[in-house]
Amino acid sequence: MTGRRHRLIIVSNRGPVTYDRDANGARVERRGAGGLVTALRGLREHHDVTWIASATTDEDRVVAGEGRHDVVMVAHDPQAYDLYYNVVANPMLWFIQHSLWGPATTPVVGRELHEAWHQGYETVNRRFAEAVVAELDNDPDATVFFHDYHLYLAPRMVRELRPDARLAHFVHIPWPVDWTVLPVAMRRAVHEGLLANDVVGFHTARWARNFERSCDDVCGSCGRTEVTNHPISIDVDEFERLRDSERVLAAEDALQRPEKLVVRVDRTDPSKNIVRGLRAFGILLDEHPEWRGRVKLLARLDPSREKIAEYLTYREAIDAEARAVGERHPGAVELQVADAFPQSVAAYKQYDVLFVNPVYDGMNLVAKEGPLVNERDGVLVLSENAGAHDELGEWAVTVNPFDVWEQAEALHAALSMDAGERRRRAGAIRSQVRENDVAKWVRGLLSDLDRVSA
Ligand code: F6P
Repeated sequence: MTGRRHRLIIVSNRGPVTYDRDANGARVERRGAGGLVTALRGLREHHDVTWIASATTDEDRVVAGEGRHDVVMVAHDPQAYDLYYNVVANPMLWFIQHSLWGPATTPVVGRELHEAWHQGYETVNRRFAEAVVAELDNDPDATVFFHDYHLYLAPRMVRELRPDARLAHFVHIPWPVDWTVLPVAMRRAVHEGLLANDVVGFHTARWARNFERSCDDVCGSCGRTEVTNHPISIDVDEFERLRDSERVLAAEDALQRPEKLVVRVDRTDPSKNIVRGLRAFGILLDEHPEWRGRVKLLARLDPSREKIAEYLTYREAIDAEARAVGERHPGAVELQVADAFPQSVAAYKQYDVLFVNPVYDGMNLVAKEGPLVNERDGVLVLSENAGAHDELGEWAVTVNPFDVWEQAEALHAALSMDAGERRRRAGAIRSQVRENDVAKWVRGLLSDLDRVSA
């Protein structure tokens, strides 16, 4: 800590660590899942940090009762947490913000959502707000830094109890202009909750602009809240160390590749557009027989949010599409569904084409991680709706995520690109990622937080 800055209270659904018991009953500590947690670690070098997060395992709940100073685990009522996480945050808010609903038929909003809103989302946000206020009572000068769509209501709850609190919020997912799918009272609560912050940050100017527009529509204006944008990135040193780690080298040895390898790495999330991606790869082989037997698509997929019906249906659609392509082109698609990060890094090193085609994505760190460690001057095929496209689009082959025909042609163009052009583009992306790493994102956030604290 520099001594110059106020204490920082980070508030996010997932925390920096999570606890379990091993076979012998001993407590084991694991790093929390997700890019957000890794990225926020840098803030701890500049601030005395207290991190407030949900207890997600039984052992977390035990730790919650022990009163640690640096990590506060909030033990929610399990039923409230289920409604908050599995009904409201995912899928309702997540689907709105990634434009995944199909308004002709979905969602059908009914009593379930209204009850989940009050008994789940409000309840859990209230518990977070109470935990924040308890921390502020210990240190009223601390700055509070909320993260993501799980916590849209908490800032206003804190503001009502502590009007002078310094509050910031970072939204890691896209912000759409149109929120009309959400009942009007909830829509207002989301916007008014966020506007209780002094600063609201997004990854790109596009999401920040959309936020200002939807605030105009829903609340008339943004009031005194400052809206900023800072693109999140990756820890370059960490990836360079990982690249040569034993586990990655072993995974690389096991990797089976034909002449050309197309790789995608995603959570099994409908926003990632895996089904259309498989369809596009099938079209590539249908339309360009010269690639048959010479190219494989390796889809490395981490299972995600498996209690949610929309995710289960999507998982089935992935399997069905992979089977359909496989029947026409045996052996052309390999699906690996498992949480296996070393395998993902091995695939990053080995791809000829990295296929990143999300419907919408706040940033998409795969588009940064892959090019940093790739050893084959691989080509990035990138959706125009990924936040990462703002920084990397110039050197990628851009695709519209809905257009499978265009995606098939983009894969063909990427696979056919000459060596000089591939080297030029891959080198430019690598430099861009190196020069704009997570430390720069953290510096941007710090300057926002300093302004809030001033
Ligand atoms: O910002 C989106 C995010 O919260 C990321 O941190 C992470 O990649 C993903 O969603 C994880 O989702 P969940 O916590 O539901 O597994």
